[in-house]
Amino acid sequence: MAEIDSRKTIVLTGASRGIGHATVKRFSREGWRVITCSRQAFAEDCPWPAGPEDHIKVDLADQEDVGIAVSEIRHRLEAHGGQLHALVNNAGISPKLKDGGRMNSIETPMHVWRDVFQVNFFAPIMLARGLFKELAAAKGSIVNVTSIAGTRVHPFAGTAYATSKAALGSLTREMAHDFGPHGIRVNAIAPGEIDTAILSPGTDKIVETIPLRRLGATSEVADIIFFLCSGQASYVTGSEIHINGGQHV
Ligand SMILES: NC(=O)c1ccc[n+]([C@@H]2O[C@H](COP(=O)([O-])OP(=O)(O)OC[C@H]3O[C@@H](n4cnc5c(N)ncnc54)[C@H](OP(=O)(O)O)[C@@H]3O)[C@@H](O)[C@H]2O)c1
Repeated sequence: MAEIDSRKTIVLTGASRGIGHATVKRFSREGWRVITCSRQAFAEDCPWPAGPEDHIKVDLADQEDVGIAVSEIRHRLEAHGGQLHALVNNAGISPKLKDGGRMNSIETPMHVWRDVFQVNFFAPIMLARGLFKELAAAKGSIVNVTSIAGTRVHPFAGTAYATSKAALGSLTREMAHDFGPHGIRVNAIAPGEIDTAILSPGTDKIVETIPLRRLGATSEVADIIFFLCSGQASYVTGSEIHINGGQHV
């Protein structure tokens, strides 16, 4: 009989770079099995013990591909008694103008708007619903990665991005209500200016006004994601934790 893997398991989107990459490292360090999802194939030089068998190549902008990925993830979870302890919806896109400027509500083409909502908003709910049974079996939790741009106009983040993140924030509340009776907690984290490739030139000007006067590190975001998925947050659901050095005060 095949041996059942007793590690806790997380499914994490957008694992290849930035906040996602730091989150893989954090959970791996804590002994979790991390199933990573991104458009890239598994990079052989990745600094954690898991191999390609724990990586799913998926384009979250493609609904059909997301459906295929859900089936594949469920199949791979069978080796864990069909349990999923955490789903972290971290992948996100933030299209900018050619010069790095903000895409506004008047001119953003509808196809851009649709792509942004598919990746940032529809993919998270498709994954959460698709993996509902496994999350319920483990009394697991979901963390949706929103943004400071979801609650205020940002100088560089576009309107499609901002509204998709606001929608994801509301979805977190709705899901906490609906998933809670099944033992699944649902929270969000809203980063401010974190040092990753998503930032625009000119962010250094914003940093001058942030009370802590610096960018956030990806590891600082990963720590909060880990906390929310851990037993230490067992009575926390429907919340959105702001990680922004006081940028919104
Ligand atoms: N950095 C910040 O300051 C900041 C602030 C507020 C919110 N956030 C949010 O935090 C999350 C992570 O941001 P980050 O700065 O770490 O971003 P990043 O460095 O740009 O990385 C984005 C990740 O999303 C994945 N991704 C993008 N499009 C995808 C698609 N169609 N299908 C599958 N995966 C896709 C990318 O993987 P592949 O390219 O390999 O597919 C990559 O791993 C995002 O939701 C972002 O909106 C970041």
